Amino acid sequence: MRRPLRIIMLGPPGSGKGTRAHIISELYGIPVITTGDMLREAVAKGTEYGKTAGGYMSRGELVPDEIVNGVVGERLGRSDLENGFILDGFPRSTPQAEFLDDFLEEHGLKLDYVIHVTLEDEAIVKRLSNRRSCPNCGEVYHLVSKPPKKEGVCDRCGSELILRGDDRPEVIRNRLAVYREKTQPLLDRYMKKGLIKEVPGDYSMDRLSEQLKRMLG
Ligand code: AP5
Repeated sequence: MRRPLRIIMLGPPGSGKGTRAHIISELYGIPVITTGDMLREAVAKGTEYGKTAGGYMSRGELVPDEIVNGVVGERLGRSDLENGFILDGFPRSTPQAEFLDDFLEEHGLKLDYVIHVTLEDEAIVKRLSNRRSCPNCGEVYHLVSKPPKKEGVCDRCGSELILRGDDRPEVIRNRLAVYREKTQPLLDRYMKKGLIKEVPGDYSMDRLSEQLKRMLG
């Protein structure tokens, strides 16, 4: 049996973190923890923290650290992570990275890789307007590079696909600005720990699996 893999996906909105996280998950049989999906689910259900988070998300701002740390801390405490985990969209700020460091240290765990997915801003804005997401199972499509078999319908669960509310150009620009200010500084932190693996966000879709396997061994 292979050793557990603990991975962080880091990169600007729409660079392809989620797409790669799900490929790695299938290759190595480890769960993906996507804070964006967890928060969107809470918003849809109208839970207490969902009500607070919704406003921040629709403006493309970060949801307050104490809310996100609470959600992630609860998820990391569950028992299905013995083979590791892939954090997609967390941490996104220095207090979140400190929270994660403390959690890992407390539980005697170590990170293996921080995968930094890179893509130019213009390509991101163009790409996200072509993204379609499944609100039910979280599967992500692209109208050109990964279209669903039947237009507007999720291949995996048959739900109707949506354009996310925060995938409008003006909100995307704000998400990019927030990324630069709050999340990008984390690269330095993980660089110093020797954990960063750089991957181009525009690498050919049908060769992603092969590329990730080569990188992770
Ligand atoms: P979240 O849902 O995490 O959004 P994000 O980080 O902005 O990332 P995205 O999901 O938009 O993109 P991605 O990089 O995963 O790209 P994808 O694989 O889909 O967060 C949303 C909001 O929630 C935040 O703004 C914030 O408000 C809140 N939030 C979440 N986490 C938080 C936290 N920790 N703290 C505070 N607030 C938080 O790919 C994009 C498109 O490109 C797809 O259509 C895909 O098919 C296509 N694509 C991917 N790779 C390729 C390729 N190689 N070639 C061609 N097309 C490709």
